[in-house]
Amino acid sequence: MVHAVYPGSFDPITNGHLDIIKRAVKMFSSLTVAILINPRKKPLFTANERLQMIQAAITHERLSVKIDMFEGLLVEYARQIRADVILRGLRAVSDFEFEFQLSLMNRRLEPSINTVYLMASADTTYLSSGLIKEIAALGGDVTSFVPIGVAERLLKKL
Ligand code: PNS
Repeated sequence: MVHAVYPGSFDPITNGHLDIIKRAVKMFSSLTVAILINPRKKPLFTANERLQMIQAAITHERLSVKIDMFEGLLVEYARQIRADVILRGLRAVSDFEFEFQLSLMNRRLEPSINTVYLMASADTTYLSSGLIKEIAALGGDVTSFVPIGVAERLLKKL
């Protein structure tokens, strides 16, 4: 029984995130998608809006996933929910440096929790929430990059 936590900003969820979630539900006995509430960052969407978008995607795909929010240290939260592993997606070499540092620091803080990485699929590897927000803000169509309902929410927000 391995419980994985998939943490992130999800501002907003992309098809890349959804791809990682879909593959992870087949690998772990339970999966919690955990939205970071970071008072120092200024996300476009509130934590509740981000949760609703993830919930809609999960429901649409009929996936059995728990969605939660957390504040503070990830390893502390992972301990609280009794997660065994932290799950992260890896897109390109550019992600590696940050992810390497993150996983080493998290392991130093909590040696019993390992970080597991899933390589992004070829058709989602170029996606990022930041780029999608920029395209939407400039009037581009992002429908094919995000799960159901997200493009409409971006349009309303921007
Ligand atoms: O989707 P993101 O923004 O790449 O996710 C980054 C996240 C949420 C995984 C990272 O910022 C995080 O874990 N934040 C929680 C605070 C924390 O534990 N910081 C120390 C990390 S070593």
